[in-house]
Amino acid sequence: MSSSLLSSTTRGSSKQMLPFRPVELAPLPIIDLSYLNHQHSLCRSIMLETIGKACKEMGCFQVINHGISRSVMKEALEAALDFFESSADEKEALESNDVRKPVRYGTSFKDGNSESRCFLKQYAHPLQEWIPFWPTSPPHYREKMGKYAVEVRRVALQLINAILESLGVDTANLNNQLEGGMQVMAVNFYPQCPKPDLMLGFPAHYDYGCLTILHQNCQGLQIIGVDGEDWEAVPEFPGALHVHIGDHMEVLSNGRYKSVLHRAVLNPEEKRVSVASIYGFPMDEKVTAAKEMVDEQHPRRYKESSFRDFLDYIDINDITEGKSFIDSL
Ligand code: SIN
Ligand code: FE2
Repeated sequence: MSSSLLSSTTRGSSKQMLPFRPVELAPLPIIDLSYLNHQHSLCRSIMLETIGKACKEMGCFQVINHGISRSVMKEALEAALDFFESSADEKEALESNDVRKPVRYGTSFKDGNSESRCFLKQYAHPLQEWIPFWPTSPPHYREKMGKYAVEVRRVALQLINAILESLGVDTANLNNQLEGGMQVMAVNFYPQCPKPDLMLGFPAHYDYGCLTILHQNCQGLQIIGVDGEDWEAVPEFPGALHVHIGDHMEVLSNGRYKSVLHRAVLNPEEKRVSVASIYGFPMDEKVTAAKEMVDEQHPRRYKESSFRDFLDYIDINDITEGKSFIDSL
């Protein structure tokens, strides 16, 4: 077994050996999004406080009552599965190692490899601009995935605003960056694997944007827990979306909230499909700490960077091999 399968990185250190078996996850906060729009400001304040605590202590939470219908959620996963199980032609046509391509397919199903995943990365905002490049097979792919893309973006914007508000950041100053920001969807397929100890789905990494919303058909996501040492399996809560914060939220918060190290393991019982929707600032917009987060006691901790800087970084550094973008800032 390759040592990279058993190892990972924690912030500021090189590779460390970590146990493969996950420990029980401390209760994951469940946020009821309907409370964010509640007429009673006390309900809203309690919700913001819960979001802030979750971001500070765990870097992730799950969200219910987000307003995305079960049928839209189900059909997005069906479209994803149908794409991965469709004939090789279109997948091959979209295959590329060029990290700057707005729509690309990739696979790590290779002999001797210790990971097993196929993915389709697709830009999703503005949708009319990118959808013509999305797969045409299966024929319903664009419609079903497109509906989910629009809905999940609405949820993401609400959550990013709430997270910034929980920090005391005036989001009015960031409106343009958020409304016109990047939406990148990483659609993943992982085969069923009777021996998940022998092979990983997606090696440990941090996400680069402000926020990732993960939708999945079965369990497989693991995060590094608060102790910073053990992998913890993220439970699956029907209808809920999993949310974790990324590098650029860490930068905006000037380190108060930390992006989460995570990975995907293979499921012994079923093939797994996940859609990770990542939100960030526009391609060339530099992200730096919000002004409210910086004072004499809290000097700016990170260099400013844009999504394009991230692409330049991953073009020459493999973030699944222990290189972390945020450590370079
Ligand atoms: C991801 O990190 O983009 C995907 C993780 C997963 O499939 O659970
Ligand atoms: Fe990720």
